[in-house]
Amino acid sequence: MSDVLRVGVVGCGRHCRGHLAPAVSRIASANLAACADVDIGAAQRMANELGIEATYESAEELIGSGDVDAVIVAVPHRHLKEVALSAIEAGKHVFIEKPMGLNAEEGREVVEAAGKENIVAMVGFCMRYSLSRMFIKSQLERGVVGEVQFVVAGKGGPPLEGWLAGPYEEGGGQLFFLGSHLTDQVVWLTGEDPEAVSGSVRWNEGGTDETSAYTVRFKKGVVATFSVSQASGVGYDFVDIFGSKGRIRGDWYGDVVSVQSQVIPEYTHPTVLNIPGDNLKEMCYRELDAFVGAILSGRSAPIPVGDGLRVLEILDAVVAASRKEKWIQV
Ligand SMILES: NC(=O)c1ccc[n+]([C@@H]2O[C@H](COP(=O)([O-])OP(=O)(O)OC[C@H]3O[C@@H](n4cnc5c(N)ncnc54)[C@H](O)[C@@H]3O)[C@@H](O)[C@H]2O)c1
Repeated sequence: MSDVLRVGVVGCGRHCRGHLAPAVSRIASANLAACADVDIGAAQRMANELGIEATYESAEELIGSGDVDAVIVAVPHRHLKEVALSAIEAGKHVFIEKPMGLNAEEGREVVEAAGKENIVAMVGFCMRYSLSRMFIKSQLERGVVGEVQFVVAGKGGPPLEGWLAGPYEEGGGQLFFLGSHLTDQVVWLTGEDPEAVSGSVRWNEGGTDETSAYTVRFKKGVVATFSVSQASGVGYDFVDIFGSKGRIRGDWYGDVVSVQSQVIPEYTHPTVLNIPGDNLKEMCYRELDAFVGAILSGRSAPIPVGDGLRVLEILDAVVAASRKEKWIQV
């Protein structure tokens, strides 16, 4: 492979146009060579803005064109799996937006297909590239809270719109949209293996999850509670981690991290730190730079699709736990 990676994007909507495609344009070792959208006008508009040479009206045309080595998939949730599978089966490296599919079965198909090809397959949990979340992860690895005991986390805001307001079975709702990010963050930050889930989902009249409260029990006994909603008048986004020796919390509306620790002298007293610079543009730049770097240097995916599958297994279990009113094994 040459030292410049040819990248194509499928789905030229809000996220791709606002964050992903501009990020690829900034990566010196990547060439944003082609874009595709079933709405050809959306593809052409983005191509004009970013100087992309080739535009296509379908994923298949882009994937079959020979223009690209890697494909970024940023389509509505109900199409993520099918587009990702087409790219993987054509031997392309693939970056798939979260939640990667509509359920664990779809996630497993992606993981199995990627396992058969010699490719990098990464899922887009861009929040792992937020400066304050990386700071929290490094503090946890430094032992700032001692042994993690329990976690309280939440993410949500006002009602969703467009296809995101559609039924859960078709990929709408907050569990897929923001719950997938939040669930991944807690699993990633704690490094724990999920074991079982209980929870309650309040559905709206259209069959979309409106507010979900769920608990994940991990194998070594850590418990994490989550609230994910589209019924809050204001946006919220936090993770609060409690351990045997301290506590650390990130509040991402405000870029604030609060920490208290019995083992790190500078944090003996509750300390509030401001960690600015956490915008989605930069997170997406860092995640795609890591994706491109992994391909060009022959390393494995920085966030493997198996991590997307693990989140889908938890979300399936949240819905099943709510419907059956019992704990569900993951
Ligand atoms: N990581 C993040 O923080 C973040 C933020 C927003 C959205 N996203 C994710 O990005 C993805 C897209 O979301 P969005 O908000 O950009 O949606 P969107 O509706 O704005 O854009 C999707 C685009 O895909 C096109 N499309 C639909 N089906 C297609 C197909 N089969 N082939 C080609 N094009 C197709 C549509 O015409 C549209 O232009 C979702 O998975 C979403 O969860 C991630």
